Amino acid sequence: MAKTKTTFFCQNCGAQYAKWLGQCNSCHKWNTIVEEIIQKEEKRSWKQTTKTKRVSNALKINEIPFDKEDKISTKNNELNRVLGGGLVKGSMLLLGGEPGIGKSTLLLQIALTLPKKVLYVSGEESQSQIKMRAERLQNSNTNCLILTETNTQNIFKVIEEITPDVVVIDSIQTLYTEYIEASPGSISQIRETTAELIKFAKETATPVLLIGHITKDGNIAGPKILEHMVDVVLQFEGDRNHTYRILRAIKNRFGSTAEIGIYEMQHTGLRQVENPSEILISQKEDNLSGTAIAATLEGVRPLMIEVQALVSTAVYGTPQRSSTGYDIKRLNMLLAVLEKRAGFRLGAKDVFLNIAGGIRVDDPAIDLAVISAILSSNEDIAIPQDFCFAAEIGLAGEIRPISRVEQRILEAEKLGFHKIFISKFNKVNSSNHTIKIIKITKVEDVFSNLF
Ligand code: TYD
Ligand code: MG
Repeated sequence: MAKTKTTFFCQNCGAQYAKWLGQCNSCHKWNTIVEEIIQKEEKRSWKQTTKTKRVSNALKINEIPFDKEDKISTKNNELNRVLGGGLVKGSMLLLGGEPGIGKSTLLLQIALTLPKKVLYVSGEESQSQIKMRAERLQNSNTNCLILTETNTQNIFKVIEEITPDVVVIDSIQTLYTEYIEASPGSISQIRETTAELIKFAKETATPVLLIGHITKDGNIAGPKILEHMVDVVLQFEGDRNHTYRILRAIKNRFGSTAEIGIYEMQHTGLRQVENPSEILISQKEDNLSGTAIAATLEGVRPLMIEVQALVSTAVYGTPQRSSTGYDIKRLNMLLAVLEKRAGFRLGAKDVFLNIAGGIRVDDPAIDLAVISAILSSNEDIAIPQDFCFAAEIGLAGEIRPISRVEQRILEAEKLGFHKIFISKFNKVNSSNHTIKIIKITKVEDVFSNLF
């Protein structure tokens, strides 16, 4: 038996220390350093029986065998889109998200629809609980095996027996390896179990999908290096009170991180939303003031999003500014631009802004819709429902051009909008479109063009 060794780890950033400290030198958080027992063994492998040591050869880049068909399509178009085609053999994927957002549901659904032999390992739920969930999902893949186990050595034993094509682990924080004495969920356990799984994935070319918990501030729990170790990091997000969920790639070694997948949580599981624009615009009979539709892009996917604003006279001394789904600093900037450049007295008004559907938008092309919604609420005049907006606003009050304007115009046209407001500096050939394209240059002109 090797001598017991201990090291101190920061539970926030994963930095390692030889002795205890009150404050972490690396992330400067207080009281995050905890002693963990690590027990180094000479040789360790995911397979306990490996005796032969293989040395890999260096190859010329054009000699490396390459198979285009190496991606396993998941039969879930939204996930395929985010992954850039499908699961890459031997890759590690980490799916993070708030508790209850639907991580287990998503991966169980994938496991049940994959036309491959899948091993779904759960350390959180019992086999009958998973069966109950699977019943709701109404998918029956007889090739999906469910295992409840948290010891990685036992998991690898089962894997050797049944040789699955894909492995799902729910969640990495519940796993532990016998080689380390620290408790499951600790920094060193997470690091070691992930390293073992990576070794297994690479040696057998089996994709491994991991679920990871996130901390209060929205980062994936465990050491930051966890995100560096895996090939793909996906984030499952959304408002728990809304049914829409967005799957976003934060890191992808095999594709772009610009794509998103949209799902709707139903009682029979997650439904793929193929046409997101239709659901993000709320259905209403009357034309109400304070709403404007923005033609935004998420990655390369056009999305029509409804912006809602409420401007009212401040009841208390300091006016309130609040924003959901949109950067509050940017809202304050737009209000200042409206005040200074267009002469609207909004300084003594409360302004509330909301992006419908509980989603968050970072695309600057939404600015013009934000300003229009604010003006519409301030003047209490409704914007016609068939108008939409796509432009950024600069500090001087200029309406700035945006990227991929043609794509946005096409989407607006497809969904039956009749007028789109864009910057004059966006080069568009209006004769190609049936939708009326209105070009504006300055924020002062928005009001006169609209009402
Ligand atoms: P879950 O996948 O357990 O979340 P996570 O693994 O991220 O913690 O999802 C739990 C929520 O999803 C739960 O609040 C109920 C809801 N849900 C549905 O609405 N429909 C369903 O078919 C399923 C399985 C779950
Ligand atoms: Mg879960």
